[in-house]
Amino acid sequence: MCGIVGYIGTQKAKPILINGLLRLEYRGYDSAGIATIENNVIKNIKNKGRVNDLLSIPEIETLDGTIGIGHTRWATHGKPSSTNSHPHLDNSNTFAVVHNGIIENYAELRKDLENKGYKFLSETDTEVIPNLIHYFFSNSSLTGEMKFLNAVNEACKLLVGSFALEILCSLYPNSMLVVRKDSPLVIGTSQTENYISSDIPAILSFTKDFYLLNDLEFAYLTRDTVKFFDNNLNQISKNTTSIEWNATAAEKDGFEDFMLKEIFEQPKSIRETIGSHINGKCVINDLNISKEYLESINKIFIVACGTAMHAGLACKSVLEQICEISTEVDIASEFRYRNPLINEKTLCIFISQSGETADTIAALKLAKERGSKTIAISNVIGSSISREADYTIYTHAGPEIAVASTKAYTSQIMILNILALYFAQILERNLDKVEALKQELLEVPNKVEQCLKLANEVKEFANKVYKEKDIFFLGRGIDYSSSLEASLKLKEISYIHSEAYAAGELKHGPIALIENDITVVALITVPYLVEKSISNIQEVITRGAKTLIITNQDLGNKTFDKIIRIPEASEYVSPILSIIPMQLFAYYISKEKGLDVDKPRNLAKSVTVE
Ligand code: G6P
Repeated sequence: MCGIVGYIGTQKAKPILINGLLRLEYRGYDSAGIATIENNVIKNIKNKGRVNDLLSIPEIETLDGTIGIGHTRWATHGKPSSTNSHPHLDNSNTFAVVHNGIIENYAELRKDLENKGYKFLSETDTEVIPNLIHYFFSNSSLTGEMKFLNAVNEACKLLVGSFALEILCSLYPNSMLVVRKDSPLVIGTSQTENYISSDIPAILSFTKDFYLLNDLEFAYLTRDTVKFFDNNLNQISKNTTSIEWNATAAEKDGFEDFMLKEIFEQPKSIRETIGSHINGKCVINDLNISKEYLESINKIFIVACGTAMHAGLACKSVLEQICEISTEVDIASEFRYRNPLINEKTLCIFISQSGETADTIAALKLAKERGSKTIAISNVIGSSISREADYTIYTHAGPEIAVASTKAYTSQIMILNILALYFAQILERNLDKVEALKQELLEVPNKVEQCLKLANEVKEFANKVYKEKDIFFLGRGIDYSSSLEASLKLKEISYIHSEAYAAGELKHGPIALIENDITVVALITVPYLVEKSISNIQEVITRGAKTLIITNQDLGNKTFDKIIRIPEASEYVSPILSIIPMQLFAYYISKEKGLDVDKPRNLAKSVTVE
């Protein structure tokens, strides 16, 4: 999705903006642009294509200002083109705006502005914003900074939808305004410079101190000050939040790609996620949940999108078996529109690596409205979801930059397991199983290290099948949910068509797709389902399939093409282990095909619009 950066300070803005935009590339985009102010004139360079392509536009050499805004666009309204790229200016070239989000009522606003004589150059929803600001500014009797602020505030009052905005005004060459509603934006601060970004990692090399804005709060920035206002334009105060991540956490650190680095970081990210949660007992500080409350609930909903939803699926059984609470897992974009049965007897858990996924946040708001307690699991401190939920539990996976999620997924499974144990302790249920699983969780980082040693074996098989058009994944029980995630990883970064099926469903349709030489990957980690799974795999072998088996069981001398043996684990932990070779499988196939592993086509890391 769109990314925004901003700078106001004593250095030239251009290299800082380009650096920030390059670090936001992973969010996914198709156009880029930057604007600065010099001698009370806004200079604006933008085009479709990559951030680095901007550097070949000759006029970019003339951008010398020490204040500027930048944008990577992920097209929604209007195709990728120079005109549709941001920044957008008003008709008088007084205001420049970059925007992340969607203005749902832009057509109506555009018509009103056209009736007032404004002309539009682009097909975007964003272009109404600078013109609206200009309209309110030129009709205002205010003076000084309040005149600028008031015009932006009045414009925002008319906007329906989501927005994170940075606004420059040529008449205020030493100030910048930012505001957000339902779209991410952070302000990094130091003594003589201030930075804006859609997310923390992009500006982590400049500062570790951040201000977080709530919806419809405005920040008025100069080089050495940041003032905050609410939407009645009353000044409010804010403290900075210090971010522990170090800047190298957002670098490749010698790895060829972020994805590979993040796969190999998993022993560490899981260890950090366990952190102090397992210390004698399982503890989740600040989670104010009583035994009476847990006894009163009759359902847990886990709601999320993409990989985060698969982490929920992987943990349904631990909540059901260890806590004895019925648990349902739902896709956020479905949940929010299907009128789910939720009330004060339902506990809703929302998982989001970024904490900014629009559908997940909307689902959370719905659950709150209906009286359910809400817990967010997020990887980003201060993210929107953490500010909406009753409680937030952080995974400490560190910044995840590759679009395809890896280390966040395994940390989410870890934290959900710990949460299940914490609930079971409070409920005093299955305490022997709690103790055994707690010990097992502590061994996971070492077992993940063993899985990573399988990289070469996985690569060898990947290199044999990378030209395939379709690859199928099969699993039963917990292995079915891992198959879904394995298949998602593969299609995200290799563009190979892939499906995951519950192995028992094979006969009910999918087997019709199996033909000679097709590749089928089967996950077999649940001891009591081994025989059943093998029977299903025999059915595809009989029809000519090549098979790769990921297992923690001794399968004897069967006729599989390749067996990858992972460490033994209970069904609560095995999803963390079995996914490691599957992440590597997707990675090596993508590399062998020569694709951009970290930034797959059409995908965005953080999906901040519906
Ligand atoms: C996008 C990303 C996925 C991610 C999903 C949910 O689709 O490409 O990798 O799993 O969003 O993101 P979240 O930040 O909410 O976990």
